Amino acid sequence: MVETTLAKKLVNNDFSEVMFKRQSVRKFDPAVTISRDELQAMIKEATSAPSACNLQSWHFVVADTAAGKAKAKSVMMPFNFPQTESCSAMVFVLGDTRSYESYRDVWNQACEDGRITPEKRDEIFKTFLPLYESASQEFLIKDATIDSSMAAMQLMLVARAHGYETNPIAGYAADKVATTFGLDPDRFVPVVALAIGKSVEAPIESTRYDAQNLTEFI
Ligand SMILES: Cc1cc2nc3c(=O)[nH]c(=O)nc-3n(C[C@H](O)[C@H](O)[C@H](O)COP(=O)(O)O)c2cc1C
Repeated sequence: MVETTLAKKLVNNDFSEVMFKRQSVRKFDPAVTISRDELQAMIKEATSAPSACNLQSWHFVVADTAAGKAKAKSVMMPFNFPQTESCSAMVFVLGDTRSYESYRDVWNQACEDGRITPEKRDEIFKTFLPLYESASQEFLIKDATIDSSMAAMQLMLVARAHGYETNPIAGYAADKVATTFGLDPDRFVPVVALAIGKSVEAPIESTRYDAQNLTEFI
C-alpha cells in the first residue's frame, strides 16, 4: 500500500475530475520542470497497481534532461517530436520479463514483516514460481505488458492528481528502445511512453464508442 502521506500531497484529489477530464496533451510548456523527487513519487504511487502474482513486471526510464530527451527523440516517430521536445519528462514504461527472478524477495519480506506465515510463503513459491520459471518468452512478454499497462494507466491518473497532463505514446521504434537506454532487449520490452508536463493547449475532445455495443452479459 502506498503511504497515505503521499495522497495528502495531491493537488487534485477529485477522482471524477482526475479520471474523466484526462485527455491526451501534445503541447506542453517547455519551461516547466518536474523535480526528480516528484517524478519518483509519482512512479511510486503508480506502482500501487496490481500485477500478475504480484510480480510487478514493470520498469521505468525517465528522460528529463536535454540529453535524455535527445535519446527519447532518437526513437520517436516524427509526429511525436512536439510532445518529446516540450514535455517536462518522457517516461518509458517497459515490461520486465525476468521479474520472477526477484520474486522471492517480495514474499520473503512479507514473511519477515509477519504479514504471511512461512508456510503461506512456501505455498506461493510452489504454486507460482514453476509457472514462470518454465514459461515461454511469449507468455512472459504478455504478462509483463499487462502489468506495465496497469502501472502506466495509473501513472497518467497520478500525474493529473499532481496537476500535470500526459500523452501516452507507442509511436516509436520499439526495437530500438531498450538498447538506446542501455537495457537488455531480451529482458525489457517497451510497452508505452508517457509525456508528462503542463499543458499549453486545449486538447482535442475524443469520442468513444457506445459501451453497450461492446458489452455482452452472459
Ligand atoms: C497504446 C497507446 C499508444 C498511443 N500512441 C500515441 C502516439 O504515438 N502519439 C500520440 O500522439 N498519441 C498516442 N496515443 C494517444 C491516443 O491517440 C489517445 O489516447 C486517443 O486518441 C484518445 O484520446 P484521449 O487520450 O485524449 O482520450 C496512444 C494511446 C495509447 C493508449
